[in-house]
Amino acid sequence: MTGRAQPITLVGTPVLHRPCRPVEEFDAALKDLVDDMFASMYEADGVGLAANQIGVDLRVFVYDCPDGSGEHRKGAVVNPVLELPELEERRLDDGDEGCLSVPGTHARLARPDRATVRGFDVTGKPITVEGTGLLARCLQHETDHLEGRLYIDRLSARARKKVLKESEEFRAEAESRAQAGESEPEGV
Ligand code: NI
Repeated sequence: MTGRAQPITLVGTPVLHRPCRPVEEFDAALKDLVDDMFASMYEADGVGLAANQIGVDLRVFVYDCPDGSGEHRKGAVVNPVLELPELEERRLDDGDEGCLSVPGTHARLARPDRATVRGFDVTGKPITVEGTGLLARCLQHETDHLEGRLYIDRLSARARKKVLKESEEFRAEAESRAQAGESEPEGV
């Protein structure tokens, strides 16, 4: 892994709140971007990361995340298209969700418990990723990012307000700890 960890963009940064552009060139720059995204995700202790979370306006995400059987799955998807089960076959998972761009908090959010993403790997080869468990949630969360949508945009107004307040408090505390010269707590 030759990537370099980049700072994570936070809620309120414009690149997080608008749709990303499709990737058109499967070149060395794309490979470098994906390497940086993996490094940034691991540095931040995340299970998934979208390109706009390191400030890059392109439709790419990476993941390293357990599926419903506990097996770890890892990869990068370029120009992903999300498919969810038909409404009558859809079951919801009412689990907790958080985001590196809204640090220090999380909230319950019901999402379909299975998801499929079709897209391309970094060489331009078509790929399909099917996810259950946390991976199903991750695939939906990351494709949302590339549409300029955060998980908090799917919460009720009240829940969204609570989560934003908790994240602001968390960041203020982290800031004052940093100024006092102490180490930062683990991110979520
Ligand atoms: Ni996120």
